[in-house]
Amino acid sequence: MNPFKYGCVVSGEFLCPRPELERQLKSYIQSGQNIVVHGERRMGKTSLVRHVVGSMRGIRMLYIDLYCIRTLSDFCRRVLTGLAASNENMSFLKKAMALIHRLRPSVSFDPATGSPSISIDARAAEEPESLEVVMSMIRHLASSEKFCVVFDEFQDILDLDNANVILAEMRSTIQFQSDTPYIFMGSVRNDMLGIFENDDSPFFKSAIPFTVGPIEEKIFANFLIERFRKGGRIANETTVKALISHADSVTGDVQELCEAIWETTGNGSTIDIDDIPAALKLIFSREGEAYGATVRSLTATQVSVLRALAETPQPRIFSTVFMERTQIMNTGTIRAALKRLIVKRLIYEYGGEYRFTNPFFREWLLLKM
Ligand SMILES: Nc1ncnc2c1ncn2[C@@H]1O[C@H](COP(=O)(O)OP(=O)(O)OP(=O)(O)O)[C@@H](O)[C@H]1O
Ligand SMILES: [Mg+2]
Repeated sequence: MNPFKYGCVVSGEFLCPRPELERQLKSYIQSGQNIVVHGERRMGKTSLVRHVVGSMRGIRMLYIDLYCIRTLSDFCRRVLTGLAASNENMSFLKKAMALIHRLRPSVSFDPATGSPSISIDARAAEEPESLEVVMSMIRHLASSEKFCVVFDEFQDILDLDNANVILAEMRSTIQFQSDTPYIFMGSVRNDMLGIFENDDSPFFKSAIPFTVGPIEEKIFANFLIERFRKGGRIANETTVKALISHADSVTGDVQELCEAIWETTGNGSTIDIDDIPAALKLIFSREGEAYGATVRSLTATQVSVLRALAETPQPRIFSTVFMERTQIMNTGTIRAALKRLIVKRLIYEYGGEYRFTNPFFREWLLLKM
């Protein structure tokens, strides 16, 4: 079996320990501190938080994933999905349902797994009061048992109508729960920063920032060597460090590369950097179609800028060299294209530099375009 996993939350043997971050996070949670977890995509935010909170005794994790919510009733349903996953005990669920009776809840059971889920009346959930109803349900439940409430992809709240009113109302119930730690997590850096750092936002400075960056190189290298060994491959420190750097030290991308390396090498073989091209070929064969569709959805100008970014390490965007590469001599046009590419989440700005969100997409562009 492939000893590497990517594209999902990891736990158990697939999770590389991050002792320093785990200790710090645990200590914030123990002191009831609200926390905002920042970090680039696929760094391991969700895995870390779920692992830490999940391993703390006497604390129940209410994990609520707000990914792509569009309406207030989506929000309410996600809270209830998280709630049913946090505790399947019927008396707990009945207590929760009594607290939200205005949303006309009902419970059903998955025929395959037997797991319960709570559904609510969609129309009732669309009423503005429903936010207060579910938030005060959380408050009530957390007053009789220690909870840690985790909102993942929190920035997607901004896509709701009246997002600011909703944020203000959430903040007003959360601020009185000094014993319940809330963790707000998100991968769209600018949006998350806006919610917690703009002084006109209801969540301004309401949570302590906590950054999840790359895993410390030595720790990650040892972990990867051990995973390769487990999967019947031999890898030395120099090679795995090269793999880490090839994937820009992004945890999930490193795992994806290692997964493909394992797939494309034989049992008992020694891994080498010469194995990278075959692994990339496999990644492109899986993802090339999606990359192609992405390129087709762009304008010619955007593609030129993207290609120039791919070709230029640490690009100085408005330098003559860069502009000649794009063949666009108008800085306003380049700036507009960059903005669109960021909105489409293909690139992001980091310390004044533009980086590809997906390093393999960058390599594919260099190869194909
Ligand atoms: N501690 C870890 N040890 C090993 N691999 C990890 C670890 N954390 C994350 N990963 C790898 O990164 C991938 C993404 O992890 P996760 O979903 O936790 O990151 P994330 O930062 O929440 O991502 P997103 O920005 O997409 O929400 C996992 O599938 C796994 O391959
Ligand atoms: Mg995540």
